[in-house]
Parts: sequence; C-alpha cells; structure tokens
Amino acid sequence: MTLATRIDLREEGKAKRADVVLGEDWTAPEGVVDSELRAGRERRGFISLNRSPLARKIITFNLMAMIVLVAGVLYLNPFRNSLVLQRETGLVAEAQLIANVFEAQLPQSGPVNLASGDGIDVRRTAEGIELPEGAELFVFDTMEHLVVSTVGMDRAERETVTGLQRDHRSTIITDILNAVWEGIASLLAPGNGPATGHVIEDLARQLAVGAIAGETQIRTGRDADGEAIFAVATPIRHNGRVLGVVAVTSVAGEIDDLVRVEREQVLQMFVIAIVVSIGLSLVLASTIANPLSDLAAAAELGRDKNARKMSPGRVRIPDLTARPDEIGRLSGAMRGMVAALYERIEGNEQFAADVAHEIKNPLASLRSAVGTLRVARRDDQKQKLLDVIDHDVRRLDRLVSDISNASRLDSELVKEEEESFNLLKMLGNITEFLGQEARGKGVDFISDLPADPIVIQGLEARLAQVFVNLITNAISFCAEGDAVRVWARKRENRVLVVVEDTGPGIPDQALTKVFKRFYSERPPGQFGEHSGLGLAISKQIVEAHGGVIWAENIRPTDADITSEPLGARFVVGLPV
Ligand SMILES: Nc1ncnc2c1ncn2[C@@H]1O[C@H](COP(=O)(O)OP(=O)(O)O)[C@@H](O)[C@H]1O
Ligand SMILES: [Mg+2]
Repeated sequence: MTLATRIDLREEGKAKRADVVLGEDWTAPEGVVDSELRAGRERRGFISLNRSPLARKIITFNLMAMIVLVAGVLYLNPFRNSLVLQRETGLVAEAQLIANVFEAQLPQSGPVNLASGDGIDVRRTAEGIELPEGAELFVFDTMEHLVVSTVGMDRAERETVTGLQRDHRSTIITDILNAVWEGIASLLAPGNGPATGHVIEDLARQLAVGAIAGETQIRTGRDADGEAIFAVATPIRHNGRVLGVVAVTSVAGEIDDLVRVEREQVLQMFVIAIVVSIGLSLVLASTIANPLSDLAAAAELGRDKNARKMSPGRVRIPDLTARPDEIGRLSGAMRGMVAALYERIEGNEQFAADVAHEIKNPLASLRSAVGTLRVARRDDQKQKLLDVIDHDVRRLDRLVSDISNASRLDSELVKEEEESFNLLKMLGNITEFLGQEARGKGVDFISDLPADPIVIQGLEARLAQVFVNLITNAISFCAEGDAVRVWARKRENRVLVVVEDTGPGIPDQALTKVFKRFYSERPPGQFGEHSGLGLAISKQIVEAHGGVIWAENIRPTDADITSEPLGARFVVGLPV
C-alpha cells in the first residue's frame, strides 16, 4: 500500500494551462537560474555535437545504417550481374546473326572453303559487317586458323541513334567516392577475375575450339588493361556441316563503364541520402538531446546554487509537459517531484519553527518560576511556584511526546500495512470507554451506530486516534448537562462519522484554522493540557486514507450566521 502523496502529473498540466501555478512557470523572465539556463542554451545553439553524446550517437547510428546499406548494394553489385547477362545474350545474338550472314552468302552447291576463299569472299563479307567501335570479329576455319579479323572503327557515317545517349552525370564527390570504392573493392576482392592479359585473339581462338564442335561458346575475360571483355564464338554451318567459326568480342571495358555509371548513380543517391539523414538526425537529436540537457542543466543549477552559495534560487525544471512524448512525461514528473520536495521541505521547516515557538512558552515560564523560587522565602509561595514548575514540566512533556508522534506520523503512515476492519466495532469500543468518562463529568453521551458492520480498509489504530481526538475534544468543551452524540452512517461508497456536542461551538473564522498545528483556543484552565496538535494529526490521518474531515457549527438552517451556535460538529468521511 502507499499512503504517500501521489504526484498527479495531469493536475500539474491543468494548472499550467489555466495559468494558476505562479512562480513555477518556466517562461517567467526573472531569476538567476533562468538567465543562466538561457545563456547556456544560446551558447549551445541549435545542437552541439561535441557536448551531446546522445546527438552523436543518433547521428552515428543513422549513418551506420546508411553506410551498411550502400556498401551492401555496391558489394553485391546486383546491377552488374543483370547487365552482364543482358550483354552476353546480346552478344550471342549478334554473333549468331553474323554467322547467319556468312551462311547466307554460301552457295548452295559447289566446293566451299573459308580459308581458301572458295565459294565466299570471307574478307569482304567480314568488312561489310558494321561493328561497334572497338569490337572485334574473327573468323576461323575448322583447323582453328584465323581466316580474317576486323575491328570496329569509328565511322563518321554511322548514324547516331536517337534516344540512345546515356547522360553521364558525375560530380567531384561521386568521382572521389567511386575512386574510394574501387580502392576498397580491389582490396576486398583482389582475385576478381584474374587479369590474365589475354590477347583478345587468344580468347577468341580458345572459344573457337569449342564452337568447332558445334556449340556456341561464351566467355568473359579481361584484356591487358584488366577491362572486362565478352567473347562469343558460334559455328558457321553449311548443309549441316561446320565450316568455320565466327567469334565476336565486345568492346573492352564496356560493361565496366556501365557498372561505373550505375555505381555513380547509387553514390549520388548515397550522398543525398547522407545529407538528408544527417539533417534529420540533427533535428531528431535537437528534439531529444536539447530538452534533456535543459532538464539536466536545470537540476544541476539548482544543486550547485544551494550547495555553494546557499542561494535561495529554486530548482526550476523546464515545463515541457506540452510534448506528447516521454520527455514531456519526464519533465512533468520532475516538476511534480521538485514541487512535492519543496512542499515537504517547507512543511518540515514550518513544523520546526512551530515546535520551537511552542516549546519557548513553557520554557520561559519555567525559567521565571525557577528564578523566583530562589528568592522566595515563604513556604506557601514556594509551594505555588513548585506547582507552576510541575505544570510547565508536564506541559513540556506532553508537547514533546505529541510533537514526536506528529513528526513520525508521515513516515509511519507510509510504512504501516492497511487492513480491513469493522469500523463500527472500533467506534463501539471507543464510545464505551469515553462514554464513561463523559458521564463521570456529567455530560450525556449518546452513540448512534447502525447494526450492520461497516468494513473499511485502513490503519485501525490511526483512525482510532482520530475519533478519540474528536470525542475527547467534544467532551472537554462540554460542561455539566451538555451532551455529546456520535453517529455513523454508510452511504454508497462512503461512510460518515459525526461527533456533535452542545458546547460553545467554534468561532466561524477558526473553522479551518482548528486543523492547523498548534492551534489551540481553550479556556485558561485547560491550557497546558492540550498541545493543539490533535486535529492537525487527525486531518493528516484521514487524508492519508483518502477521506475528508471538516468542522462546522450547529445552527438552525434559517439562523443568522452571527448567532450563537448550538454546538460544534466534526464530520469525518471515509471511502469504504
Ligand atoms: N468540540 C469542539 N468545540 C469547540 N472547539 C473545538 C472543539 N474541538 C476542537 N476545538 C477547537 O480546536 C482547537 C484545536 O483542537 P486540537 O487540535 O484537538 O487541539 P487541542 O485539543 O490540543 O486544543 C481547540 O483548541 C479548540 O479551540
Ligand atoms: Mg484535542
């Protein structure tokens, strides 16, 4: 169980919206703490990376995710594979077309020999075929002898194909990143296709061997500069017989260029994404790290000030409760905590001051009595003074024990375990005992309790203390012939216990003051017996149980408020 005051954040928020909480308002311009905090904020600017580990972390993690993504894309190189496949199928089709051209030139009958030029002018046919610049065409006969080879030239008359231009955008940044990437890639995969330094013709010839057997061959190799070349060899058939082989090699490095362009685009995107990500991270960091560091700074400023200079500057936690996130919650919780702490501290200070004040009176009286005793000669005088001293000592004793009870109450209320008990049984015991005392004084004592038990949750001994207080007060204010009535009723989820008397009542302006500590307004004779703590303690106990207690005067409803009351009534309401 917890009887400690709960910090209600929502209440805080409401108060703020209604502009009721004065002095706690964060935007209040005056105050040392405020100005220091604002100065700190200005120094910090939008976000300070070197002073905010949280901001650094946010940015680093965001960048790390980004780098891993891009490195993965570049490393797995998915576009290269599909480009290679496309280029290879294209080249195979090209080679087969060229082979078809040769086949179409061959005469239907008569001797045909590629090497000797019987039946076909291989050279003229080969030269008639337009190849892209740098691509090479080889024709081998069945003995793997090279019959002819041509290289694609940059022919001025070649028509440019509209729509085929590739815009090759690269920036300094992407060039640098590309170079960096190529450096890393060569480190990571040094054996990526051995740069065997094949002469292109060798590559074509190797393939030709397989193609002579009747199957189209394809291979990727690297030229002397290490650039990728594709080579395809496909047989030329005549009447079902392989006559020779057409081998076509692609332009060296063609695919590498394409891949580089693709990579550059990825890197451009990467650069943009990094800029965006850093920007977003900064915004994110500023919305998380800045308010947190404000909160921390506010708490630190307060601590500093109190410890060193004993400056009364209060800790002012920034009010971020308008934020619908955890930081808003944290700010609200911290504000609530600080407010509760100050309330507690002030309460304790007030209590200590009150205690000192209350103890001073009997002490002063004691001192003067002792002083007079020294010079008193007559025995009856001495006896009187001794009586005074005895009275003061008893009063002090009572005060001190009441005070120590009251000061322990808070922590004990939190510690003790709530139990369910029958309130009526407890009231029955108390009224029986105090009823006798009242009757001994000539006061009528009436108790009117329902028959059915009323079971409530709480600290039985503490609540008993409340009712003993109320009833003894009532009895003490009654003279002979007066009456005290105690009654209780249960209503839905509440139970009311009322203690009424026909005594003098309470001055109207004191109806709430009677619950203040050390407030005691009694006829002179009773002074000293009462510390004025009873009702304060009672109120504390009742409120810790979630209940209410109030005092009122008994008057006919139509009576003038200034008329003499018929008595006092104390009402305690408790939740069932
Ligand atoms: N039944 C009552 N009738 C009139 N005044 C009362 C009654 N009960 C309490 N009071 C007033 O409230 C004051 C505070 O009561 P309490 O806190 O119990 O302190 P104490 O009993 O020590 O005076 C009393 O001194 C008295 O002035
Ligand atoms: Mg009392």
